[in-house]
Amino acid sequence: MRNVLVTGGAGFIGSALVRGLLEQPDVRRVMVVDDFSTGHEDNLREVADRVEIHRGDIRNYATLERLFDGVHVVFHEAAIASVPKSIEDPRLCHEVNVDGTFNVLQAAVDQKVRRVVFAASAAAYGNAPELPKREDMLPDPRSPYAVHKLAGEMYLRTFWESYGLETVALRYFNVFGPRQDPKSPYSGVLSIFADRLLAGKAPTIHGDGEQSRDFIFVENIVQANLLAARSEKAPGRLYNCGCGGRVTLNQVWDAMQRVAGVNLPASHGPDRPGDVRHSQADISLARRDLGFEPSIGFEQGMQRTLDWLRASK
Ligand SMILES: NC(=O)c1ccc[n+]([C@@H]2O[C@H](COP(=O)([O-])OP(=O)(O)OC[C@H]3O[C@@H](n4cnc5c(N)ncnc54)[C@H](O)[C@@H]3O)[C@@H](O)[C@H]2O)c1
Repeated sequence: MRNVLVTGGAGFIGSALVRGLLEQPDVRRVMVVDDFSTGHEDNLREVADRVEIHRGDIRNYATLERLFDGVHVVFHEAAIASVPKSIEDPRLCHEVNVDGTFNVLQAAVDQKVRRVVFAASAAAYGNAPELPKREDMLPDPRSPYAVHKLAGEMYLRTFWESYGLETVALRYFNVFGPRQDPKSPYSGVLSIFADRLLAGKAPTIHGDGEQSRDFIFVENIVQANLLAARSEKAPGRLYNCGCGGRVTLNQVWDAMQRVAGVNLPASHGPDRPGDVRHSQADISLARRDLGFEPSIGFEQGMQRTLDWLRASK
């Protein structure tokens, strides 16, 4: 894994992955391609002198073909990562999330990239009640975004089978941590809650707050990507990336209030269209094949996220 490239490397997860890659002794060159639509230069500020940052759009095949020359592993994080946005503007999101992913795979084959690791999503499981979610369950996408991510997974497997490109799809569950943009209307719920907490305000929880998620701290996702890039068993495969637990939104807000020592009862608003009710990963496949073990738990991750938000104010 000498030369690596992260698409969407200026985003929340991509910028954490860039930091993780810079710490790897076998990595010589770290490149980023990002159109900065939701990513920020600030996210890479203190590592910018060690990273080659390219402003570019994954919808443009020629850009990718040029940048992938000499690259060994591509981590494909770039996407319009939002269920509501995909409902508002499905064509734009299709072009970025599906055509963009196709471009990444095609350019990888054409430039003889060895492996592509893809940010897939637990949204693929939809609303089916059975928990925890296993990779062999029938997908049930309930939004354009979920369809896009599922199409990406299928393209990955096809490119492995048809062209021998080593592909690995990681179905991220609910990722949270530093640099998740709390100001974005599409941001993760945990960073929105944390932002409200630090402002001394209560959040509005969509619905009754009993919907649950398998929250995973971003550094665990970085570990999963590094393992997926190296594992001999992984090519052509798909893995859940969660913690294997489940926390309701009401419990999240209770825990945050406890940690911060405040009492701010949340209000409740309408449900969000396209949202799934419960989500929890079975991570035994990732444990078995990748040796994946989420080492940073929910409370510890939450503490680190709050510390980062306080420091960045
Ligand atoms: N955050 C989560 O909980 C979560 C869960 C499941 C999957 N994912 C996936 O993980 C990946 C990263 O998500 P994130 O939360 O860091 O989101 P993010 O919005 O912070 O990062 C996405 C990055 O992609 C860039 N980008 C968007 N369109 C682009 C284009 N056309 N060309 C080049 N760059 C483009 C953005 O500028 C941004 O830097 C996405 O693929 C997302 O679908 C995230």
